[in-house]
Amino acid sequence: MSTMASSSKGKMPAAPTVKHADAEGYEMPWVEKYRPILLSDIVGNSETVERLKVIAEDGNVPHIILSGMPGIGKTTSIHCLAHALLGDAYKEGVLELNASDERGIDVVRNKIKSFAQRKVTLPAGRHKIIILDEADSMTSGAQQALRRTMEIYSNTTRFALACNMSNKIIEPIQSRCAILRYTKLKDAEVLKRLKEICEMEGVKSSDEGLAALIFTAEGDMRQAINNLQSTWSGFGFVSPENVFKICDQPHPLVVQTMIKHCQKGEIDQALARIDALWDQGYSAVDIVVTVFRVVKGMEELPEYTKLEFIREIGWTHMRILEGVGTLVQLGAMIARLCRMSIPPEMLKL
Ligand SMILES: Nc1ncnc2c1ncn2[C@@H]1O[C@H](COP(=O)(O)OP(=O)(O)OP(=O)(O)O)[C@@H](O)[C@H]1O
Ligand SMILES: [Mg+2]
Repeated sequence: MSTMASSSKGKMPAAPTVKHADAEGYEMPWVEKYRPILLSDIVGNSETVERLKVIAEDGNVPHIILSGMPGIGKTTSIHCLAHALLGDAYKEGVLELNASDERGIDVVRNKIKSFAQRKVTLPAGRHKIIILDEADSMTSGAQQALRRTMEIYSNTTRFALACNMSNKIIEPIQSRCAILRYTKLKDAEVLKRLKEICEMEGVKSSDEGLAALIFTAEGDMRQAINNLQSTWSGFGFVSPENVFKICDQPHPLVVQTMIKHCQKGEIDQALARIDALWDQGYSAVDIVVTVFRVVKGMEELPEYTKLEFIREIGWTHMRILEGVGTLVQLGAMIARLCRMSIPPEMLKL
């Protein structure tokens, strides 16, 4: 198995405080247990991670902003980078503030400044690092207060910011930083990691089960791993049925069957599927989003049909978001999808 297995297992006990209460006590969340410690263990976004590796090697860190969707390794990357740069001096050399800490102007003025001024012994040529996780939740006042601080102490201290939306970081800070964008992880990347974890944890799974986890996670590694753990501890086997019970999303196979009926113009059968999903309590948005994702991924649909279907689904989504999320709305969508496969001369009758 990869180095991740040994490194994660070897070093983890120090960091999290979760204890095994008793033999059947709770287990440590796998997202934490398998949080990468080395930059080389991070999955996906290889170009960005390569850049971080280069930075870690020559030690010349710019101020950086990592931005991207949740659960794809931003916080992890920053911590890996800090570990690679500072090694044993990590404790003294890093100040981490995240959204759970008070981060108003006072904190920037006092805590961050005093950390930046503090003298610590670090490996030669290395800088102290201030990690501001979830920086998009900092008020713009606090961000303004950072501007000059970043500059004044830049000979000893570097900032690493992580955020979901880089546009919530004020322009002047963006201009002081190198922005590294993280993209959603590819299905194959998530699958590879899930397989590794399954092997390490002895999880029994079917290929379809793993595919279902990937479908529901949409490129979010944290969600994929969490759902894997919930399915395994809840049902003892990772099959699509169990995964969808845990994730509580409309089952894509049902939706796929429905689309196939639409393609053949069989409105009654298609409506029956929508009714069934509605009766299970899914909201109109849940359903329409799943319909979109299923149609997008359906290879057997001819391109023209897919194009038209997606357009109709898009319109319906918009109407639902405007407030009309009723079964009638979904029924109308199905009717329009069916209509496309009915020859026009029949409709005139
Ligand atoms: N690229 C990745 N490679 C390996 N594991 C990952 C990766 N991304 C996420 N994970 C797993 O998901 C967990 C959460 O990742 P992380 O905290 O880095 O997410 P994030 O990008 O900071 O998300 P958020 O925006 O919600 O803070 C990690 O503990 C790890 O187990
Ligand atoms: Mg994070």
